[in-house]
Amino acid sequence: MSDRSLSRRQYLTSVGGAAVTLSVAGCMGDGGSGSGDGGGGSGSTGTEQAPSITAGTAPGFPPFEMKEGGELVGFDIDLFEAVVSETEYQFDGWSEFEFDSLIPALTNNNIDAIAAGMTINEKRDETIDFTDPYYSSDQAIVVREDGDFSPGSLSDLADRPIGAQKGTTGEGVVQDELVGDEITQNQYNAYDNYVLAIQDLQNGNVDAVVIDVPVAETFAKNRPVEIAFVYETGEKFGFGVRTDDDELTSALNSGLSAVRESGRYEELTQKWFGE
Ligand code: ARG
Repeated sequence: MSDRSLSRRQYLTSVGGAAVTLSVAGCMGDGGSGSGDGGGGSGSTGTEQAPSITAGTAPGFPPFEMKEGGELVGFDIDLFEAVVSETEYQFDGWSEFEFDSLIPALTNNNIDAIAAGMTINEKRDETIDFTDPYYSSDQAIVVREDGDFSPGSLSDLADRPIGAQKGTTGEGVVQDELVGDEITQNQYNAYDNYVLAIQDLQNGNVDAVVIDVPVAETFAKNRPVEIAFVYETGEKFGFGVRTDDDELTSALNSGLSAVRESGRYEELTQKWFGE
């Protein structure tokens, strides 16, 4: 909380009134559209002022990004804002999207960066660039806590309805390792976000959800679900940037190093993961 209000204060002292309205709109957005908050136009704010950038995220992925009392909070939110504050760029606020709309939003210039627990992988790297990694993850297979169903490996998921979020690497595991083999395409349920997937798991509409381990651990703390087993994927999260935005990429990489060196990164992992 205090971190956000601090960065808000810093922000308020650094820009004019019109941009403040935009920023608040970006933060209060109700999710989904993200269309009101036009591109940041990095580099175009004039000669004497640092360029301003906007970022996109996909809440419903705790503790990386989620809505709390209508406010967008999480590790990615704090970390990205801390990283930008180490650069000459001004931060112009957040837009919210479904996860699978983030890369199009970036390439269409609706946002200038993605901070969404996004795994760096080859396929995405064909379309966008990534900063240096800032977090590691594997995939967890999550089941109901009360359950009679306790799979220990992917083959135990045979003939079961399985859920994941659209466009994620969890979906990739389902499509590559399960569909056509252990389960049919119809047994895969794709959700716009992981909150809906976990709700459907609780409701009994799917028997397992494939989701990043740190997020699975967070859901397991707050809901009657548990991790059955971990499928090792060795993923690394990075911030997404346009391929032609090398200046921003290297500024964010320097910012990331600065945030690690200052101890701020460690503070934020403590705050959000209790590590
Ligand atoms: N790490 C996974 C991926 O990159 C899932 C990310 C989902 N993020 C989110 N904010 N919903 O595909």
